[in-house]
Amino acid sequence: MPAGRPLILVSNRGPVTFADDGSFQRGTGGLVTALTGLAEHRELLWVASTMTGGDAQRAREAGGPFEVKTPGGSRYQVRLVESDEDAYSRFYNVFANPMLWFIQHYLWDLSNAPDIRQNEVDAFELGYQVVNRDLADAVLEEMDGREDPVVMIHDYHLYTLPRMIRDARPDAFLHHFIHIPWTQPDAWRVLPSEIRERLFDGILANDIVGFHTRSYRWNFLQCCQDLMGLDVDRERGVVHYDGREVWVRAYPLPIDSGGIARVAAKPGVAEAERELLARRREFLLLRVDRADLSKNVLRGFTAFDLFLEQHPEFRERITFVAQLMPSRTDVPEYLEYLERIEALVAVVNHRHGTPDWMPIQLKLKDDVEEAMAAYKHYDVLLVNAMFDGMNLVAKEGPMVNERAGVSILSENTGAHEELGEAALTVNPFDIRELAETIHTALTMPSGEREQRLAALRTAITARTPGDWLDDQLADIREKAAG
Ligand code: F6P
Repeated sequence: MPAGRPLILVSNRGPVTFADDGSFQRGTGGLVTALTGLAEHRELLWVASTMTGGDAQRAREAGGPFEVKTPGGSRYQVRLVESDEDAYSRFYNVFANPMLWFIQHYLWDLSNAPDIRQNEVDAFELGYQVVNRDLADAVLEEMDGREDPVVMIHDYHLYTLPRMIRDARPDAFLHHFIHIPWTQPDAWRVLPSEIRERLFDGILANDIVGFHTRSYRWNFLQCCQDLMGLDVDRERGVVHYDGREVWVRAYPLPIDSGGIARVAAKPGVAEAERELLARRREFLLLRVDRADLSKNVLRGFTAFDLFLEQHPEFRERITFVAQLMPSRTDVPEYLEYLERIEALVAVVNHRHGTPDWMPIQLKLKDDVEEAMAAYKHYDVLLVNAMFDGMNLVAKEGPMVNERAGVSILSENTGAHEELGEAALTVNPFDIRELAETIHTALTMPSGEREQRLAALRTAITARTPGDWLDDQLADIREKAAG
């Protein structure tokens, strides 16, 4: 980045979440994991929404940016922005989730939903737009008096914010990274055309738009052509809009393998390992996910049910540990999903379990130490998402595993572009294939398991989060210079 250009990062979820007593912990999810690394390397200001009462209290006390220390010991500035409660709920619980999230993971069951009624239109006008405006105003305030600022915008919560900033500060460089898939044009047609156009107009106010994979980049270019009638250069990844060039790029997100190893070495993990090992059977099948519909949790259990039916020799010898973190529980679809998960686990456990063997152990919680302990000892890691922007579990597990564990990976995850050859690929909808692949993984000769794990690690460590960032900053420099 040109020396001296101030860097402002803006996302919905911030790097820290405050409890009512003022204590804080790191924000959850892949976005925070990725960007905390950025904060360790550069001087920056991170603008984000308040998401808890504790956040709002901290924001009011600070009245502006305040300092946060990263686990690595460096410091950066955070500004938390509080929006009207009703507006925020419309933004987060109706428009961003489920509306955009479902469009971008092909989750709508179109013969039933979504219905676009006044409620959905209001969620855009009186929710999404309000929160985007609140965050844009905070960014503009922080940019005041600073020349040629660079703003890095993150994810699907903030598609209309770039336009708000561009109109007020044409000199700003706007870079937007989208952490979830970009779907094909028809998936977007459920939105009223006027809303759709405002979303695209917002995104195209950026200088660069980034995705995890070439396929999402391709879909975005196709959408610009088909839905917006724009002139698109596919080879160069350029959209011509409003007399400007918008670059569309793929930057696959790597993990910080050193950081993961440090977490895995914590005493709390050793404690969790002792508990796990005391209970473990001969084989451990593991999944770790947010309890999100896109993760395809139900088909995973159904396939396990089928596997136990077809391979009774594995009964009482295997446990399927499913660590699922409840997520977005104010959205009815998510709450209902949790209920369906619990009901299906009860059915499978009832069907196959014995007085001292529970085939599926369901842990509905976010516990990094338990997840790390399970990463170390799985024989098979299951990542069968229907669609997933990247999926960092697919990268973290193999870095920590100590049993030459095999990865089963959905072909529809972003991680599959990098890890597909070393993992066992599955079509996430094919339950029959998944049941068979669980068996293949469990009976794989140890030489092949070791080879595959080594190949996974080579692919995972080929690039670091620093490279990810440098690639983006190099493009910012190049475009800003041109
Ligand atoms: O990966 C997409 C994403 O929305 C990230 O922005 C976030 O880290 C994660 O999913 C969790 O979602 P939420 O912020 O709604 O809990």
